[in-house]
Order: sequence, then C-alpha cells, then structure tokens
Amino acid sequence: MEIGKLEREKIGETEVGKEKSVKIGKAERGKFIVFEGIDGSGKSTQIQMLADKLRSRNISCYVTMEPTDSPIGAMIHQVMTRRMQADAKVVAALFVADRLDHLLNEVNGICKMVAEGTTVLMDRYYFSSYAYQSVEVPMEWLIQANTLSSATLRPDVNLFLDISPQAAMERIRSGRFQTELYEETSRLVQVRQNYLDAFDRLKGVEEVARIDAGRSRKEVAADVWHVVEGLFKG
Ligand code: ADP
Ligand code: TYD
Repeated sequence: MEIGKLEREKIGETEVGKEKSVKIGKAERGKFIVFEGIDGSGKSTQIQMLADKLRSRNISCYVTMEPTDSPIGAMIHQVMTRRMQADAKVVAALFVADRLDHLLNEVNGICKMVAEGTTVLMDRYYFSSYAYQSVEVPMEWLIQANTLSSATLRPDVNLFLDISPQAAMERIRSGRFQTELYEETSRLVQVRQNYLDAFDRLKGVEEVARIDAGRSRKEVAADVWHVVEGLFKG
C-alpha cells in the first residue's frame, strides 16, 4: 500500500458488470511511533529528523511528548522541580492521568488524530514510567496502572534509542555545569536496566526496536528510517 493514501475499503466482492466495486472508505489510520531512551539518548533530535523526513514525503505528522503541558503535566513538572512533594505512587498515577488525557482529550487527543490519519511521533510513553518510576514502585504495579493506555493505544513501534549512560551524560553535560555527575550517571544506569527488564517482560506483547544511539545523528536516523519505512509498507 502506498504511503499516506486513503484506504480503499472493499464493499464485499460484489460484481458490477465485470468490475469489482470499491469505494473510498475511512481514512487510513496514522501510525503511532514512540521514542524511548534515557535522558540525552537523542530522542528529540531524532524525532525532529524523522518529522522532517515524513513531511518531505507528504505524510502528515504530529510531534508530541510526555509529560505534557496540560494541567496534569504541570503538576508533574512541579514534582520534578521539587516545588511539590508527592509519594512515588502518586507521581506514577499522575503520569497515568497525564497519559490518558493525552490520548483522549477532545482538543488534541492523539487517539483522534491517529484515527483521522495523522502519524503521531511521541517523545516517551508508558515504557518511560516502567523505566523511571520502577526505581521506586514495583514494575508490575506500573504495568497494571497503565493498562488503560496500553489497551487504548499501543504503539506501532517503540523505538528504543540505546546509549551508554556515560555517553548520554557527556552529551547532557556539554555546555552545562557539571553537577552530581556520579549520582546522575548511576541513576541512568538503573533506568537503562529497567527499560531492558520492561522490554523483556513485555516480549511478544509490545513491538520494540532497539537502535544503537551512540553513533552519529545520521547513522541513528538511517536505522530509525529503516524501521519506520517498514511500517508504511504492506
Ligand atoms: P533527549 O531528547 O533524548 O534527551 P536530545 O535529542 O535532546 O536527547 O540530545 C541530547 C544532546 O545530545 C543534545 O545537545 C543534542 O544536540 C545532542 N545529540 C543528539 N544526538 C546526537 C548524536 N547522535 N551525536 C552527538 N550528539 C547528539
Ligand atoms: P524531559 O526534560 O522532557 O527529558 P527528556 O528530554 O530526556 O525526555 O523530562 C522528562 C523526564 O520525565 C525524564 O527525566 C523522564 C521523566 N518521566 C518519567 O519519570 N516517567 C514517565 O512516565 C515519563 C513520560 C517521563
């Protein structure tokens, strides 16, 4: 099937004269492509490159991220910047609520967009909760808590940009003050391991493509494109 074309929806095998009758039916569903990875793995960079590439091929796409800038997302930012204190389970639940609103809200909910044919590129989704919140909350609890989202909209693919925490820290650090480097690196080591554990638990359920993100932007983008191109074929 060609990329971005309307899906031709067959109405049975009715013969009209000698020709089969076909009508242009509902728009083809857009793809839902999620980028995952530890901080500094290059997600925003690759999302921007992919969006440019898709648009140059006339594929309409929408770029978004979690946490969002909704009122629920604002509460999450308050917690992350330590202006608000909350138990780790409450934080995990805020991410769940932010995610559901991201999917379902009437203004720019991504379920509606995908259904209408827009391809959505998203910086983080529920695997981020499994990787980050499981530092403090059991992974099984998190997976359960996110079932409303996973049952509502599962990514066509989770692109995991895999990079060593040391290399990611180098990238983050360049141009910034060097603060608590050891502490930050050890946290990212744990988060990366949690990602790998989560992918293992959900093997056969979730589509995951691991990409070596420790290379040049162009090399990473070529692998991303290889996976994404596959989604639009067939
Ligand atoms: P993320 O969104 O995953 O936190 P970014 O895309 O913001 O990561 O990248 C983090 C930093 O690393 C940015 O300064 C970005 O310009 C740089 N960067 C991104 N990809 C690469 C790459 N492949 N090689 C070197 N630096 C990169
Ligand atoms: P952000 O500054 O957007 O980081 P990045 O550019 O690396 O994505 O902050 C997002 C932070 O929120 C990041 O450190 C991971 C965290 N996070 C969670 O802890 N759980 C989640 O479910 C999500 C979506 C993000």
